[in-house]
Formats: sequence, structure tokens, C-alpha cells
Amino acid sequence: MTKMMKALNEQINKEIYSGYLYLSMVNYFEERSLDGFASWFKAQAQEELYHAMRIYNFIHEVGGKVVLEAIEKPDIEWTSPLQVFQEGLKHEKFITASIHELVQMAEEEKEYAVRDMLQWFIVEQVEEEANFSLHVDQLELGGDTGAALMLMNSKMAARVPLPLSADEQTE
Ligand code: FEO
Repeated sequence: MTKMMKALNEQINKEIYSGYLYLSMVNYFEERSLDGFASWFKAQAQEELYHAMRIYNFIHEVGGKVVLEAIEKPDIEWTSPLQVFQEGLKHEKFITASIHELVQMAEEEKEYAVRDMLQWFIVEQVEEEANFSLHVDQLELGGDTGAALMLMNSKMAARVPLPLSADEQTE
């Protein structure tokens, strides 16, 4: 397997891990009946699997080999909703750095199709960091307890995950 292909496979693992981490964060909010936050993180977890699939499909398209490795166990406990978003932002910065390393490698290895595919991820990571950063700022400003938290919970409910089945759409 080429160095580039190995790195792309590692990125699939990181994207799936991101989904796993955010699903763990869904749990944190579900357990506290913060349904709006849980909904937001469910959608985020789904989006991460979509990121993984973009690379997965690309590898197959170019005749490469996908090798799925074990997914690391995510954290399961945080001290506050603010800390959840701070950790999310930290994680997104790690993913951005990883994408930038892939871009650099693609350029060095003259892997132009890979370089082109990664452009979408560069733009996406700007949005990912901005999303988490916005919510960190809002939780810092409004506080992450009481009325301010409940208000934000209602706002977060606007982002919903895709339904799992046709039945769910009619519930
Ligand atoms: Fe796939 Fe949130 O980066």
C-alpha cells in the first residue's frame, strides 16, 4: 500500500472515531434530558460517517484498498455542556491539522486526484471549527446552567439527524 493510501485509510478511521466521539456526547446530553443538544450531536455524528464515506468511496473509485482498523473508545464523561463543546472544538482542530497534513503529502507525492478530493475537506473543516467555536462562545457568554442553557437547548433542536426509517418520519 502506498504512503498516501495508508494515510487516507487512517483518515477514514479518524472520521469514524469523530462520529463515535459525538455519539458519546449525544449520550451525555440524553442522560441530562437536554434533547436539543442531543439532536444536534446526533446530526453531527451522522455527518462524520458521511465524511468517512467520501474518502472510502474515493479509494474504491481510484482502485485503492480500504482497510478498516479498530475504532478507539471515546471519552464518556464531561464536566459541563461547555466542556463538551470545548473538547469538540479541540477535536475538530486535530482533524483540520490531519487534513492539512494529507494535503501536504498529496502535493509532495504528486497525488493530484487526492489533492483535488481533499479540497472539499479543507472548506468543510472551516465550517466545522466555526460551528463548535460559535457554541463555545455562546455557552461562555450565557452560562451553561439554568434558563440560558434551556434556551440554547431549544435552539439546538433545530438541527435534526436524518430519520433511521420511514416509520420514524411519521412519529
Ligand atoms: Fe469530519 Fe468534524 O470533521
